[in-house]
Amino acid sequence: MALRHVSTSPFADQKPGTSGLRKKVPVFRQPNYVENFVQAILDCIPERDGATLVIGGDGRFFNREVVQIAIKMAAANGLGRVLVGRDGLLSTPAASCVIRKHGAIGGIVLSASHNPGGPDGDFGIKFNGANGGPAPESVTSAIFEQTKTITAYRISDAPDLDLGVTGTSEIDGMSVEIIDPVADYAELMHSLFDFEALTKLFASGFRMRFDALSAITGPYAKAILEDTLGAEAGTVVNGEPKPDFGGHHPDPNPVHAHELFDLMHGPDAPDFGAASDGDGDRNMIVAPGLFVTPSDSLAILAAHAHRAPGYATGLAGVARSMPTSRAADRVAAKLGIEAFETPTGWKFFGNLLDAGRITLCGEESAGTGSNHVREKDGLWAVLLWLNILAATGKPAQDLVRAHWAEFGRDYYTRHDYEEIDSDAAKRLMDGLRAKIASLPGQTIGGLTVKTADDFRYVDPVDGSVTEAQGVRITFAEDARIVYRLSGTGTAGATLRVYIERYESDPTRLEQPVAEMLAPVVAVARELADIAAITGRAEPSVVT
Ligand code: G6P
Ligand code: ZN
Repeated sequence: MALRHVSTSPFADQKPGTSGLRKKVPVFRQPNYVENFVQAILDCIPERDGATLVIGGDGRFFNREVVQIAIKMAAANGLGRVLVGRDGLLSTPAASCVIRKHGAIGGIVLSASHNPGGPDGDFGIKFNGANGGPAPESVTSAIFEQTKTITAYRISDAPDLDLGVTGTSEIDGMSVEIIDPVADYAELMHSLFDFEALTKLFASGFRMRFDALSAITGPYAKAILEDTLGAEAGTVVNGEPKPDFGGHHPDPNPVHAHELFDLMHGPDAPDFGAASDGDGDRNMIVAPGLFVTPSDSLAILAAHAHRAPGYATGLAGVARSMPTSRAADRVAAKLGIEAFETPTGWKFFGNLLDAGRITLCGEESAGTGSNHVREKDGLWAVLLWLNILAATGKPAQDLVRAHWAEFGRDYYTRHDYEEIDSDAAKRLMDGLRAKIASLPGQTIGGLTVKTADDFRYVDPVDGSVTEAQGVRITFAEDARIVYRLSGTGTAGATLRVYIERYESDPTRLEQPVAEMLAPVVAVARELADIAAITGRAEPSVVT
């Protein structure tokens, strides 16, 4: 087969965001758009000659086409072997697992995570490095630089491969292995969790629902929960991955996973409810009658992880992203382990995990994970929860309440103002930053500002500095407000306002969240002048 050099010219908009390049599908379908970006990635892997590369995605619209392109470009760029998930499928955590297990140089992961798919939906291309984690900023900037000057890309003109059957073939001297997308991942889960105890749990009549939202985790959840652990058939719903997610918005939160949320709050609630997102790295946990915030989930998992075989020796430390509530810090303090606060974005956990400083980490954006891979992992979180429920014999809702009784409760809500004008968003953040110095000591809406800053992260492992990660304001009344702009949107800007308040009074642990936080919400709006600057009286999404 001939290897072709195809001339091309740069696109100005290929700057990767929080997790890779994300754009609307029509943008990706422009001639050469995908090829340019993939070539830029490959150019930034100096050791690619003869190396192994993992390729797969969440199955969204355009996934197959890009998988074919990536395979042919890998062949033309000197890779020795590619591992491709059958049908082009690999969940994000499974891709991370496969990269690590097979000593790959990295992986090209196709996903726009929880964003809707389809011909007018979103698509994304992300590069993960040899540790299985999202490429660090130094690499993504190098990729971006490369996209600005690209003049040609290399591609094999081999015909399309049959992605539907596992097995090995060859194109242009490169070996192509189509692998079962679930097998390596399932084996890793088996090594971490007590599958025997989980099998007993299901055999004893424990019922759960896992809503895969017609996205990638369906096959993984079915194979592990139903086929291996014996959960009753029908435990996994919306289990077939679909290119448009069956019209679902595959974001596991109470708004987009409302069917699960409603079931868990109704009379027929099973013992446990969970959901995952488009590419399988996020999770939502719902106990009967009780939604568990991702921040609480991280804290609860940290407190009980030692009950699962993979974590029996205890945790080295825990980390949370800055806007995630401080609940996990309280657990770390009690366990006497280190707690870290990182900028939003899973990649910031990478160094801490690689250096062995942390074992567990999580984010308010429904991501939880550990050192087993270098991505957050939705199904892993569900299995750890199940392992803890099996080991303690406690219903999930009791476990949450016991946690609050012991540590206090961090009431938490996030208000999103989506698709606001980018200039207005910038003005709002600039306005806040300009106020920071004058805020401490001021009383606003009955709350007194204790500290105010723009989060700046100094990586404890390599000393790298990341500036301007969001404005955080703490109050003497044990409340906190964080403002930042989303790094993952594809249209306009999204302002996120994170609001929390700590309560340890045992008689006030079960108050309505909105009521508890109303005074802090009012202050958050006033301080940033949200309505006047954005033209929005109310957020578009409250979670
Ligand atoms: C992706 C990343 C997460 C991050 C989230 C933030 O999901 O993988 O690590 O927390 O984006 O999204 P945002 O829209 O708030 O920038
Ligand atoms: Zn995701």
